Amino acid sequence: MQNLVIEIDKITKFYHVGTETVKALQGVSLSIKRGEYVAIMGPSGSGKSTLMNMIGALDTPTGGRYVLNGTDVSRLSDDSLAEIRNKEIGFVFQTFNLLPRYTALENAMLPLIYAGLPKNERIKLGKEVMEKVALTDRMEHRPNEMSGGQRQRVAVARALVNNPSIILADEPTGNLDSKTSVDIMRLFNQIHQSGNTIILVTHEEEIAQHAHRIIRLRDGLIESDTMNEKITISN
Ligand SMILES: Nc1ncnc2c1ncn2[C@@H]1O[C@H](COP(=O)(O)OP(=O)(O)OP(=O)(O)O)[C@@H](O)[C@H]1O
Ligand SMILES: [Mg+2]
Repeated sequence: MQNLVIEIDKITKFYHVGTETVKALQGVSLSIKRGEYVAIMGPSGSGKSTLMNMIGALDTPTGGRYVLNGTDVSRLSDDSLAEIRNKEIGFVFQTFNLLPRYTALENAMLPLIYAGLPKNERIKLGKEVMEKVALTDRMEHRPNEMSGGQRQRVAVARALVNNPSIILADEPTGNLDSKTSVDIMRLFNQIHQSGNTIILVTHEEEIAQHAHRIIRLRDGLIESDTMNEKITISN
């Protein structure tokens, strides 16, 4: 096992729109160790989601190098990207991104279908993660039969079901009220304590304060990268 799960060296991401070039990332370097809990902050348009897409192997950078768990992913084909993504990364999005026709349990089990696991195995692991997010009483509910917080817990269950090395969350509390956000953050704390690496994007200082390290982006560059003293001291 690698101690560094993420090694990013001077990555850039340029988007071409018409005749214009948008420099979303202008040379970001960063390493993240196994078991870290990192918050990414910064103004709208500063490149947070673009960086998350790179880290999550949803897209490849224009330039620079990205090594994920020892594999150089900056130049992989789409198929290999999909494979590594399915194995290493669990995603949680602001808008939950659940499939409406599927039950909570079926949504949570989805990544296991891509992983090619037999059905009885999938159900067993699915139920285990539903227990982790405290939703065993909602397994047969469809997304529109659940509250926002419960939907996000299903999304967290889905992110965990493959036992990925990294959980990536882009504004996971962005559509939740403050009380429900606290519940979700408590869940992330538990997941972190059980050994996962967590990287989350947030606009809210209060949410970022759960993380042990806070990285601030501005105009596609890292403006600051500091340990969160409130947490590191109390530990
Ligand atoms: N697919 C795309 N095509 C063209 N430009 C893009 C694309 N995705 C993002 N951009 C541009 O890249 C820049 C960074 O966008 P990004 O989504 O990473 O910002 P962000 O920090 O996540 O912002 P927000 O807080 O609003 O979510 C923005 O200027 C955006 O307009
Ligand atoms: Mg964004």
